[in-house]
Amino acid sequence: MNASVKEALIRAAIDVRENSYAPYSGFRVGAALLTLNGCIFTGCNVENVAYGLTVCAEQNAICKAISEGDNEFLAMAIAADTNEPVMPCGACRQIMGEFNPELDLVLVNLKGKIIESSLSILLPSLFKMD
Ligand code: THU
Repeated sequence: MNASVKEALIRAAIDVRENSYAPYSGFRVGAALLTLNGCIFTGCNVENVAYGLTVCAEQNAICKAISEGDNEFLAMAIAADTNEPVMPCGACRQIMGEFNPELDLVLVNLKGKIIESSLSILLPSLFKMD
């Protein structure tokens, strides 16, 4: 991923975080997903008074891409206001793995700290049925 695309992906994740609906946890998350077509799909977390119905930012971005017919995922940036760059939860890792077990990940906080990783590092040996 070239530097300007990476920058755009990070900016999109930070910007969409502003739309987060997180009245229960107060923890706002933004995600931006880059596809092979060069499109960026964004998502924020959406909480619910029945807590278990909460949708994570990453899942939201993935569902938006899939429902628009775009399912070739290259990279995802995830942003939150944490001390260290935020890590995706286990459920989100599994959902990412459905589409690209080697998805590039750009994990950021609002202080400008960035960790670049891969889903293959954060979720090795993922579940398969074959
Ligand atoms: N959350 C995400 O959006 N992504 C993750 O990977 C972990 C957690 C959200 C869910 C909930 O709204 C808030 O962060 C606190 O768990």
